[in-house]
Amino acid sequence: MPAVIILGTQWGDEGKGKATDQLGTRADYVVKYNGGNNAGHTVVVDGEKFPLHLLPGGILSEGCTPVIGGGVVVDLEVLFKEIEDLESRGRDTSRLKISANAHVITPYTRKLDNLSERTLGERKIGTTGRGIGPTYADKISRVGIRIQDLFDESILRQKVSSALEQKNRLLVSYGEEPFEPEAVAAELLSYAERVRPMVVDTVLELNNALDDGKTVLFEGGQATMLDIDFGTYPYVTSSNPTAGGACTGTGVGPARVDRVVGVAKAYVTRVGEGPFPTELFGEEGEWLREAGREYGVTTGRPRRCGWYDAPVARYATRVNGLTDLVVTKLDVLGGLDRIPVCVAYEIDGRRVMEVPASQTDFHHARPVYECLDGWKSDISGCRAWEELPARAQAYVEYLERVSRCRISVIGVGPERDQAIVRHDLV
Ligand code: GDP
Ligand code: IMO
Ligand code: MG
Repeated sequence: MPAVIILGTQWGDEGKGKATDQLGTRADYVVKYNGGNNAGHTVVVDGEKFPLHLLPGGILSEGCTPVIGGGVVVDLEVLFKEIEDLESRGRDTSRLKISANAHVITPYTRKLDNLSERTLGERKIGTTGRGIGPTYADKISRVGIRIQDLFDESILRQKVSSALEQKNRLLVSYGEEPFEPEAVAAELLSYAERVRPMVVDTVLELNNALDDGKTVLFEGGQATMLDIDFGTYPYVTSSNPTAGGACTGTGVGPARVDRVVGVAKAYVTRVGEGPFPTELFGEEGEWLREAGREYGVTTGRPRRCGWYDAPVARYATRVNGLTDLVVTKLDVLGGLDRIPVCVAYEIDGRRVMEVPASQTDFHHARPVYECLDGWKSDISGCRAWEELPARAQAYVEYLERVSRCRISVIGVGPERDQAIVRHDLV
């Protein structure tokens, strides 16, 4: 299976990093196609934990080439810090390639992210504060800075100046200090020579690799319900984590993609604001947060926790054309007597089976639960389907049925090998 997309089906942090890393050991390329360092993907290899933000999962597999595609927004300071961190831990990052079309997060887009959140007050999005939204906004408004602009000093200075003409007026009106165009340009240019050797024609390289029968993984950041088009707008990120984003974010056509793998937690978490029908408040939510160690990799924020949401899973299956699901963190549910699964919503007195098209309806959605029996045991040592307790198997088979997608891999712990593979993905 040469081209495989791996993406989130819920509100992020499903375990995409671990799934990508596992498959990355057998892939020739791992390509990040959207988002930036708002992502926090945790990979654990032999007890050593690697939190990846901008670097694709394949960076930890020898023989795999990691690529940052044109759909990504790159904070150069963060990029080089992450590279230095990995190098200091004895990891080779020299294979990394970056698209010249990727947009650059600037000091002013970072500032504007925080200003916008402050201005929204109680209606804030709860962003990661990394400058993601304003950088994509500049891209769409055609005033963005791209990696390739770093290699033409006069163009870069011109672009920074015209972008700042608008932004500085806004900043000053909010009582903030304006940015000095020359200083911003100098800061960005200071990275040019370090980034230059990484920049290649990634569109050509990836398509050639597929022509040669190589295996290419596309690693999504964020998730379906955070997608700018398909998520819980406006409580979303500013890119397309869904399957189409893998094509627009890399220049690989949809007909070349063989598999679309969705990653789902055996329950659901969310960071930041916005609707979350199965969210648990009080003791049950606390229990899940502690059992699953649900604290953000990027911001350290406690994650909101809730039960598995089947309408959301079916929505993700539909929107992405999923061929497979990876269900992670099944081990976390081992302590429960009964496990509720949301099978439908009640919205203003009506029973609704699917994620509604109207956001107002989704904000009013109350979960309708079916309860399954828990297995009450530690499954973190299981490596084969037959080793799972019958009730854990029944839970997975139930999720498979209500999600309308086959479950090919089951995660039973954070380590690379803590997984049960029912169907090979590459
Ligand atoms: P991502 O953003 O989708 O890559 O996910 P994160 O790394 O933000 O969050 C997932 C967390 O769950 C990380 O701490 C992983 O190490 C951990 N994890 C992944 N799969 C499993 C699993 O099957 N069981 C357990 N217990 N932890 C897992
Ligand atoms: P990974 O790839 C979970 C959320 C933020 C906020 C919203 C918008 O690790 O799954 P942004 O900074 O992107 O403008 O914030 O999206 N968010 C994530 N939540 N996991 C992520 O990434 C996220 N990236 C952004 O919390 O609600
Ligand atoms: Mg994460």
